[in-house]
Amino acid sequence: MPFEPLSPAALVRSDRWPRGATGLRYGGDYNPEQWPREVWLEDIALMNEAGINLVSIGIFSWVLVEPREGEYDFAWLDDLFNLLHDAGIDIDLATPTAAPPAWFWKKYPAARPVNREGVQLSGGSRGIVSPSSPEYRRAAANITEQLARRYADHPALVLWHVHNEYGAPISESYDDYSVAAFRIWLQKRYGTLSGLNEAWGTTFWGQRYGEWDEIDAPRLSASVTNQTQRLDFKRFSSDALLECFIAERDTIRQFTPDIPVTTNFMATNCLSADYWKWSREVDIVSNDHYLVAERPDNHILLAMDADLTRSFAGGAPWILMEHSTGAVNWQPRNIAKTAGELARNSLSHLARGADGILFFQFRASRYGAEKFHSAMLPHAGTDTRAWRDVVELGATLARLASVRASRVRARVAILWDVESFWAQDLEWRPSVELDHRERIEAFYSALWNRGVTVDFAHPATDLHGYDLVLAPSLYLVGPAAAANLTDYVRGGGTLVVSYFSGIVDEQDAVYPGAAPGALRDVLGLAIHEFRPLRENESVDLSDERSGSGWTDDIHVSTAEVLSRYLDGPAAVGPAITRNSFGSGSAWYVSTRLIGHDLDSLLGEVLTSIGMSTEPMPGIEVVTRTSDRGDFTFVINHTNADATHPATGTELITGETISDTVTVPAGLTRVVHSVPTETA
Ligand code: GAL
Repeated sequence: MPFEPLSPAALVRSDRWPRGATGLRYGGDYNPEQWPREVWLEDIALMNEAGINLVSIGIFSWVLVEPREGEYDFAWLDDLFNLLHDAGIDIDLATPTAAPPAWFWKKYPAARPVNREGVQLSGGSRGIVSPSSPEYRRAAANITEQLARRYADHPALVLWHVHNEYGAPISESYDDYSVAAFRIWLQKRYGTLSGLNEAWGTTFWGQRYGEWDEIDAPRLSASVTNQTQRLDFKRFSSDALLECFIAERDTIRQFTPDIPVTTNFMATNCLSADYWKWSREVDIVSNDHYLVAERPDNHILLAMDADLTRSFAGGAPWILMEHSTGAVNWQPRNIAKTAGELARNSLSHLARGADGILFFQFRASRYGAEKFHSAMLPHAGTDTRAWRDVVELGATLARLASVRASRVRARVAILWDVESFWAQDLEWRPSVELDHRERIEAFYSALWNRGVTVDFAHPATDLHGYDLVLAPSLYLVGPAAAANLTDYVRGGGTLVVSYFSGIVDEQDAVYPGAAPGALRDVLGLAIHEFRPLRENESVDLSDERSGSGWTDDIHVSTAEVLSRYLDGPAAVGPAITRNSFGSGSAWYVSTRLIGHDLDSLLGEVLTSIGMSTEPMPGIEVVTRTSDRGDFTFVINHTNADATHPATGTELITGETISDTVTVPAGLTRVVHSVPTETA
């Protein structure tokens, strides 16, 4: 099967970075237009006190810069630029295209987005406009050009922040412009109608198309809509938004070719954009992350989000564009951060490759939808834990300046392909227990608990640099990815695959023959029937583990059976297998293992590749390396002091560490060890 793995180089952008400050970047979104000018002066003095050196401005200010179509008012923004510059604070200037003015919505009603249920959505908020609307694209290009012309030569401008969180809160619009653009996108993808009919399997339920203009967006219909059509509409919607980004970026580049351009991703939290694709188009990857506050393991989910972001960045430094100092305002229960959590969260992002730590937002809003959201400067002012923490974090980041541009190296990768989420999350799957995210989180958490640093990788990327690759329930695996994974194992890699992986190709069509069609050979087995479990049912395995959710009727060809089902619908067949294939091996785990059972299995897999690890719950250890030496971050998420072997200089306290660093409960230590030849 011909395939060309994506070279990692294709994903690694040049090391572009905001000019100016040589250390780390620190700051947040700044929305001073909500306050009188005297407050700006106070803000800027406080920013200096906290060591803030970068703020994102203008994100939602379209109507203030262009109060009427074609009429501009830059006076307030000029003033702000100059005030910030005079205070030594650099600017990340946003294009305000996530929030078109009221005049736009009134004049161009056809640009209003329509949801899947057919409801046309209005302005008065922020977020999506029909990305295919020519009126929107024209207006967005215009305001972008006006801003770029105006501030191209301003010395405070160091970064462009295009739009805000493309794809949130929704990414799909079912308006007429989008339908027309979808047809063109399909023509490019399939060439002919017969190609489309075949790819979409339209003989099923008599859905064959005779003309292109019979094709609609996959609106809500009486029963399940064509699943490939839905998958393609998700692809199209991500591409349509990406086109909007590229158009703005290219406008900007005409005026400021040397200023990097970014847009803020939401790595694990927005599954509507294909960020592998998007990452190739931005100069710097930046990301927004908010804790799932009620989950006790939210610091592990944070780490996962940061590792995914670094992977999108191809390992290059990235910017944490937004996170919160305390509670957000949009979760069912908005839990405040505990003492020390703000610093631990920030330093965990830093440990995992972020070279800029920014928050939403500098000063809390008095009015509007986000008045109950925390900020760097809370409503209660400067005599607060939040403000003291913000000032202290600024000082800590200054002490950690030498970490800048060092890189995280991982020997283990988890496969991540948003298309697999898109496909699996459609209706009528074999069990509601199938949950791709749950499996990724479970595998990631088990590795986190053993201190194993993980990259994420697209399944069609060159994986040869990794000793271990994990596919936690990767349902959709296209032929190129299948060949790539097979080649990886043949060449000596170790692959761990969990149930319901490699079932369909990129059209969401089941591979011919027994499951898992994409991975049958490399796993050395065939699944004759899925045997999902009932709610709350569990099964015992011969290795003393137990599983839930899912089992398979497995028939091995070349795989070795490591454990069998003792009971349940797949008894007494294989449960966990390992296949020697070429110079590598491929493990298959056919049921949902959790807790100790999953941990011990991954412990065995790690041992098999020569990585001996021990569970170290609550202690996060990550190393960033550079030619200036290693920076080992030890973050103590527990209530007891912890120790970790290290030698060098601790950068936060300045202490010399001879063989063990002590990390007090809830705190972080960063040990810099100089390379031996220069020590
Ligand atoms: C982000 C958004 C910010 C702010 C923040 C609140 O998703 O980009 O503008 O709304 O959430 O948590």
